[in-house]
Amino acid sequence: MKAIVQDRYGAPGDVLRLAEVGLPEVGDEDVLVRVRASSANPWDWHFIRGEPVLLRPAGIGGVRRPKFLIPGGDLAGTVERVGSRVTGFEPGVDVYGFGHGAFAEYVAVPRTRLAPMPAGLSFEQAAAVPLAAVTALQCLRAGGIAPGQHVLVVGASGGVGTFAVQIAKHLGARVSGVCSTPHVDLVQGLGADQVIDYTRDDFTAGTAKYDLVLQLGGTYSPAAIRRVLPPHGTLIQSSGDGGRWLGPVGNMIKAAVLNRFTKPSLKAFTATVTAEALNEIKDLIESGRIIPVIGRTFPLTQAAAAVELVEKGSPPGKVVVVVD
Ligand SMILES: NC(=O)c1ccc[n+]([C@@H]2O[C@H](COP(=O)([O-])OP(=O)(O)OC[C@H]3O[C@@H](n4cnc5c(N)ncnc54)[C@H](OP(=O)(O)O)[C@@H]3O)[C@@H](O)[C@H]2O)c1
Repeated sequence: MKAIVQDRYGAPGDVLRLAEVGLPEVGDEDVLVRVRASSANPWDWHFIRGEPVLLRPAGIGGVRRPKFLIPGGDLAGTVERVGSRVTGFEPGVDVYGFGHGAFAEYVAVPRTRLAPMPAGLSFEQAAAVPLAAVTALQCLRAGGIAPGQHVLVVGASGGVGTFAVQIAKHLGARVSGVCSTPHVDLVQGLGADQVIDYTRDDFTAGTAKYDLVLQLGGTYSPAAIRRVLPPHGTLIQSSGDGGRWLGPVGNMIKAAVLNRFTKPSLKAFTATVTAEALNEIKDLIESGRIIPVIGRTFPLTQAAAAVELVEKGSPPGKVVVVVD
């Protein structure tokens, strides 16, 4: 099969190449999916670069070389065959989910990370959903979202943020979003009640308070965000810039430490794509509550460019990789 492979860590454009490789092994609990589309997430460049370096031993990859030779996580495609202990997925069924090695024609995915594809979406649209939408849903839940709350989504125009704005509105919150000038209209169109352009205004210096802040973009420290939280407020910290060694983990550690000495709750958060969450997102899509936003599309041969674009951070929504 055709796949994008890497045998060393580095910049996507330097280390990714198209190759002909064997089909992946399918474990008893796995589903072999013929991938029709994938999408790029910041998760991908973390794995491709092996950063944050301090997390390599904790599972991001091998200490010296990548553990996963084929990058890519999000996927939409068709079940080719299933492992001996898998029930509920039949060959020929369209699915979406998340598994290591999705920048390829076939990927073996644990059944616990797959769900039937939402009806009415193309493969490209469905591939834009899994990690970003599940992260948005789980961040909002972890922050205890409730109807009537004022939620601030920092990074509202991004892959996760575009879903977070829509899901928070669906859950009855008043939503403010933070993004750059070119994306203000988009975020408004997704339902945000107010949009703050970070190139003009610094929300951490304003007087507005928010019951829940999702930090999905920018390098604001937890201490700065604490200023806009009332005592009962919550910060869900999911991004930050601790450089090559710490990456987002730097801010997550700061949030955990500061949380011990402060009234608002400051929580570091990591999402887990599960079949249950994918099914919940499927229902939200099929009932017209949320839609994926796609900023750019690349063919598989240009997967490196897709990941580089996400790393640079210019398009709104998701960057999709079409496999055939
Ligand atoms: N912990 C987890 O499990 C998990 C899972 C998924 C993602 N994440 C993290 O969540 C973050 C968001 O992911 P994503 O896929 O949504 O990334 P993305 O698509 O690159 O979106 C980044 C967002 O940040 C905004 N942004 C950039 N600079 C900003 C600034 N100075 N102030 C405020 N906003 C700024 C961007 O706005 P403009 O485009 O308008 O400039 C965009 O909305 C990433 O850090 C990712 O690593 C964590």
